[in-house]
Amino acid sequence: MKNIVLFASGSGSNVENIVQYFQDRPNITIASVLTNRRDAKVLDRCNRLKISSLCFNKIAFQQTDCILDILKETDPDLIILAGFLWKIPKKIIAAFPNKIVNIHPALLPKYGGKGMYGFNVHKAVKENREKESGISIHYVNENYDEGAIIHQAKTEILPDDDLETIAAKVQALEYEHFPKVIEKLLFEQ
Ligand code: GAR
Repeated sequence: MKNIVLFASGSGSNVENIVQYFQDRPNITIASVLTNRRDAKVLDRCNRLKISSLCFNKIAFQQTDCILDILKETDPDLIILAGFLWKIPKKIIAAFPNKIVNIHPALLPKYGGKGMYGFNVHKAVKENREKESGISIHYVNENYDEGAIIHQAKTEILPDDDLETIAAKVQALEYEHFPKVIEKLLFEQ
């Protein structure tokens, strides 16, 4: 039996997509979804999907072992960051080597780093008149968006694309690739 924990800060559409993908796989459990925002839409999704969720604040995350202890207790095969915007504390990274995986909505190493999330990324891609964008699924290390890349997928950006259409193209790649990459990692470990 494989067991994953998800972290999310916002809407949680990737969380929902991952939960649905693994729904008919009895050998994979979503243990819980952790969020840093009590108003995150992901919490409503968890209620609807009957997935256990937990909300924590910055002090619990950065200055106590509370989340680290919960993760140790859960002993996940993978910790998945699906739109989670806080930096992961060093001791959590050290406790789960090569087990924390993030998705980024651009082709890293371009358009990564602090402040680069959601539409900020697509805005920079548009302003630089990029001809392509995409997704990067990577291991998490101590620096934002710098861990080893596991998988990338590209989409063409047309001159007429606006931020919404770029976001939709990138999101489609996220929904298609992220659950499959997670599944592959779970059974390769
Ligand atoms: C996703 O597009 C994900 O790639 C991005 O946040 C979005 C979350 O959407 N992550 C980052 O930008 C991380 N730097 P969702 O809440 O609808 O799944």
